[in-house]
Amino acid sequence: MTGEIITLQIGQCGNQVGKQFWSQLIKEHGIDKDGQSKEPDNNDSNTVREDDPTIFFRQNDSNRFTPRALMFDLEPSAIANVQNSFPGLFNERNVWVSKDELGAGNTWSKGYDYGLENQEEFIDMIDKEIDATENFEGFQLLHSVAGGTGSGLGSNFLEALSDRYHKKIVTTYSVFPSSESEVVIQPYNTILTLRRLIENSDASVVFDNNALLNLATRVFRDRNTSYEQTNQLIASVLSSVTNSLRFPSYMYNSLPSIFSTLVPTADLHFLVPSFTPFTADFIPEVRDFKKSSAYDVVLDLFDKNNGMILRSNDTPVYLSIYDSILGPVDQTDITRAILKSQQRVKFPPWSPTALHVNVGKKSLYNVSPGSDRVSGMMLANTSSVNALLQTACSSFDVLFKRGAFIHMYQDGRMFQNGVDEFVESREIVQSCIDEYFSAEQETFLDDVLIEDENMVGNIDGLDADGDNII
Ligand code: GTP
Repeated sequence: MTGEIITLQIGQCGNQVGKQFWSQLIKEHGIDKDGQSKEPDNNDSNTVREDDPTIFFRQNDSNRFTPRALMFDLEPSAIANVQNSFPGLFNERNVWVSKDELGAGNTWSKGYDYGLENQEEFIDMIDKEIDATENFEGFQLLHSVAGGTGSGLGSNFLEALSDRYHKKIVTTYSVFPSSESEVVIQPYNTILTLRRLIENSDASVVFDNNALLNLATRVFRDRNTSYEQTNQLIASVLSSVTNSLRFPSYMYNSLPSIFSTLVPTADLHFLVPSFTPFTADFIPEVRDFKKSSAYDVVLDLFDKNNGMILRSNDTPVYLSIYDSILGPVDQTDITRAILKSQQRVKFPPWSPTALHVNVGKKSLYNVSPGSDRVSGMMLANTSSVNALLQTACSSFDVLFKRGAFIHMYQDGRMFQNGVDEFVESREIVQSCIDEYFSAEQETFLDDVLIEDENMVGNIDGLDADGDNII
């Protein structure tokens, strides 16, 4: 049985992304904005319900659904906006806004310290939500790595979750700043947060605002892109990643079954999303009349213009891939596309065929003129993530070399004895970059097997080629 998943939304970005995520989920599960369940659009009383909303929602006796979501922020506006958009949908007791309502001033250490000071209360809120599950499976945390709350408080949450619920899966959906970052200290926040993403999450799906804004301009045909639009793109990914959990079949119906196919060793768990085409199932205002076959979609997902981080390398190495394809799919198209991508795309020698495809189910509740189209989402564990990590490091180095703005962190508890935390975090991010480079080499898995008890999954499950890893 698929277990329940709890969503943690932290800071402005986390809560605004969460708003679009829940907006998509209530559409797909036929739930009104206030939580009341509706009948399917096709009104056929014989239709058997294929979805399982209880993975992401609590259901009460009067058929009302409440998201298994907790929202945290240090200032009230983003959460108020989410609540006002869906009056009565969320559990009021799952909301925490700091009493002084000042925000974290874009400083990681402020957000982190709020986490330390209020940890008991936060754990209590989470435990109460877990009490309402039967088979709790894990968390998904939504945040930005660059502000003070999503990064600092988010980092504190990641440490607390891996400490207290270490057998549960923790995934993150982490938004990186655009290159014209609005606040000069964002690179510090990013590196400090990356350390926690590396050490305390099981898988991190990464987005960068540069790529999201470019993509939004094309998808919405609008030069004046908004966060609302970028967040709809992120929500399309979240919806597709979780499709096989919410419309369960016999494969990929748990978080481990999706993410263990993608994560060869504990450190290599950054996943780059791509999506195409954005059909009306996901973005109603989009009018994409082009009809694509599943063959086209699987191959188009490799196009860097459909990716949600900027890519510097035109021939990245793919360690593993998970595709979720929706719509009227001909299975032979998928098989042909997998064969074609194995010729076209660079996989490392130790993982020559690590492309997994799930053909998901479309919602009966979310029927629109574009619902007969195929769409696809790809999560790729690829060395191209190094472009994102290296940009974060070089922006950090420029500031840190000069000791610029370090004083803004000095009051933080983590920095009472100096700046070691910055140095260590930077080193840990560097070793992750190095690990991605060495994963491109033929001998990578040999080294891992010899020296490493970090191996995820069952080593006996390897075949002679190191294929079908987990
Ligand atoms: P404080 O404001 O310091 O309390 O922290 P916070 O975590 O609430 O800040 P925020 O979430 O605003 O993080 C700032 C970073 O997130 C910047 O890089 C913004 O561009 C980005 N950002 C903020 N809101 C959104 C959003 O809704 N969507 C996207 N894609 N990015 C966002």
